[in-house]
Amino acid sequence: MLSFAYAAALRRVAVVAAALLVLPLSLSGPAIGQAPSFPSHPITLIVPFAKGGPTDVVARIVSAEMAKSLGQPVVVDNIVGAGGTIGALKAAQALPDGYTLVLGHMGTHAAAVALYPKLGYRPDVDFAPVALVARMPILLLARREFPAADFREFVLYVRAHQDTINLAHAGVGSVSYTSCMLLNHLLGINPTGVPFNGTGPAMDALVAGQVDYMCDQMVNAVLPLRTEVIKAYVIAGAERDPAVPTVPTAAEAGLPKFQVEAWNGLFAPKDTPAAVVATLNAAAVRALDQPEVREPMTGLGAVVPPPDQRTPEALAGVVGREVQKWRMVLKRQAP
Ligand code: MLT
Repeated sequence: MLSFAYAAALRRVAVVAAALLVLPLSLSGPAIGQAPSFPSHPITLIVPFAKGGPTDVVARIVSAEMAKSLGQPVVVDNIVGAGGTIGALKAAQALPDGYTLVLGHMGTHAAAVALYPKLGYRPDVDFAPVALVARMPILLLARREFPAADFREFVLYVRAHQDTINLAHAGVGSVSYTSCMLLNHLLGINPTGVPFNGTGPAMDALVAGQVDYMCDQMVNAVLPLRTEVIKAYVIAGAERDPAVPTVPTAAEAGLPKFQVEAWNGLFAPKDTPAAVVATLNAAAVRALDQPEVREPMTGLGAVVPPPDQRTPEALAGVVGREVQKWRMVLKRQAP
């Protein structure tokens, strides 16, 4: 009969052995410059838009893979409103310990600076850039029954009916808002904008025919386009995209200045220790090379950045250039 003490010791060994069997990749231990004891508990990743939209989709794909090498869950928290700036501000004000991150983008971490006089944060100062995780083109989308067969007819129709049509977006400062503001400025129209907490719910309204058009990111459009429940007139990129090969570029359709690219960057609050940022960056860089990330992302028309674009410094450069670009673009649009 085993003594009680010996049985208890055996149980402890069994528990430790079982734990070792499920320990993820973090057993390899931190690389030089990374934080040895981080993370010791789950990380929160703020997504500043509603579930099911492009930011949410990219966040969940990348964070699930990051969790494997970090050895802790990365829990997505959708904090919506004000074009994503509420969620971004929450992250900027979080403890700089690496346990609160935000997936920001061209709207929250660039265009919003020119659209909100009191933004509450400076994208190029109040965050510690971690890694650029996705780039993707923007498409001009319309409800399936919209009475225009191509971009030329779309332009004629919206100019003739701008008082009765509407467009969907994810709030002032969002990618969808900023992109269509550029389009509307170039077309000389100013229809009613219908704000949503993200282009996930906005897409539902477009598919239902409740709104007329939207400028949205590729990853949110590919599937409804393939099932033909919506239509696309142009891609706001320099060239056609293999994910939607029949959609002409805005330049081909006669509006070369309609050029917009969306990007997603992972950010921690400023003053997050460099070693913690290095650990998070390593997990993101590794994740971007895994098929569990590359296949769904490229399948939805997103571009996974090459290694030289994944450094914190590279993301800082993107933010700096984009803040300047959108400040100039939106200044030109100001009434
Ligand atoms: C936007 O800026 O339009 C957002 O990215 C939409 C979303 O992610 O839901």
